[in-house]
Amino acid sequence: MKKLRFGVIGTGSVVREIYRHLYFASRYSGLIDVVAACDVRPESLDWFCEEYRIPVERRFTDYRRLLDGVELDAVAVNTPDSFHRAPVCAALEAGVDVVVPKPTAASVVDAHAMIETARRHGRYLGVDFHKRSDPVVIEAAARHRSGRYGTLQVGVFSMLDKLMVADPNHEPRFFASSDFAERNSPVSFLTSHMADTFIAITGLYPVSVQAVGYRQKLRSLSPIASQGYDLVDTTMVCENGATVHMTSGWILPNTANCITVQSGRLLYTDAAVDLWKEWYGYHEIAPDGINDRNVLFLNFAPDGKVGGFGITNPGTIIERVVAHRSGEPVAEAALSPVASGLLTTLVCECAHESLAAGGESADGVVSGSVVDARAHLERRLGRDVAASYYDKPT
Ligand SMILES: NC(=O)c1ccc[n+]([C@@H]2O[C@H](COP(=O)([O-])OP(=O)(O)OC[C@H]3O[C@@H](n4cnc5c(N)ncnc54)[C@H](O)[C@@H]3O)[C@@H](O)[C@H]2O)c1
Repeated sequence: MKKLRFGVIGTGSVVREIYRHLYFASRYSGLIDVVAACDVRPESLDWFCEEYRIPVERRFTDYRRLLDGVELDAVAVNTPDSFHRAPVCAALEAGVDVVVPKPTAASVVDAHAMIETARRHGRYLGVDFHKRSDPVVIEAAARHRSGRYGTLQVGVFSMLDKLMVADPNHEPRFFASSDFAERNSPVSFLTSHMADTFIAITGLYPVSVQAVGYRQKLRSLSPIASQGYDLVDTTMVCENGATVHMTSGWILPNTANCITVQSGRLLYTDAAVDLWKEWYGYHEIAPDGINDRNVLFLNFAPDGKVGGFGITNPGTIIERVVAHRSGEPVAEAALSPVASGLLTTLVCECAHESLAAGGESADGVVSGSVVDARAHLERRLGRDVAASYYDKPT
């Protein structure tokens, strides 16, 4: 089999922490040949290209030059959420398939443009929501669908990062820019995972979204303070009346036992389910502290191969691209509102909209208004397009 000629656009933190293992040290690495890379930041581009021996003539700071100048089968677009659309659509229009990290985009307008471009050009667009391949989530979805739990009433999720993730004073800095937590939010980075996990398990569509945001810790940091949100508590009401609370943030003390501490509880008429209950099955007492490592997400084998659902989820997307380039048509389901992440983008955008329309209810606390999710989608995309996403096939 011929390897996919693969380009990497955006070589920042997600590449450093996850995708370099996928590209060069996983069971999927043999499917691709990383032939070119692009990043607007020379230090990021140089690190990646030096480490993985990308020739100088195939290093770019403009993704259009990469797409024009190199023969490619697929690209990974790892740029910030608000800058997924342009390179993704340009690649799809150039006949190249695309793998993009979650969330699909920062707005439903961008997500819709990406979905439509993939559909129009008959190309594969895969969004890497890696939690969809977490065995806990797969099992929960199967058991939910079986009906044995009855009707879902309430969900309570939380996803909390150590402060070092958002702290611009931490050395080395986790994200490249000092204003990371101001330009991004716990909603796009973390609630997106929880909302997508919830939607993947239940298939339930959002009816309304309301958020409360807290800005009390990050603004006290020194010498560099941040005006970003510490925590955001998002409430989503679903089509069957179920209510889901998703609390996300990045101010857990650095002494926390994981970089990301997460929990998920689903309460049904006939069952109560706790996801990730006994952590991840790997507990260590080590010189840097007491840690529970999420070895299901990433694990490192003695032969140098990296596995875990952080790898298998995007790896499966690469396998689908291989199948597609060998002539398999893209299934309509691959671009459904759930699979494409359109609904998850909608929940996150509504949460941001809720905060933007809200007011300060106490010092550093923004209480958002209730946003009607379908009406929001109609305002952004028009009534007919919104209906095409919302009205489930009968
Ligand atoms: N799978 C996950 O769980 C996960 C984890 C972290 C981030 N992400 C997602 O990955 C994406 C990237 O996030 P990150 O954490 O790596 O951010 P980052 O800021 O560390 O890296 C983004 C990179 O894109 C580059 N870039 C920006 N504009 C560009 C352009 N026009 N052309 C080429 N390169 C450009 C930046 O210079 C930077 O190196 C985001 O969508 C984010 O939400 C996913």
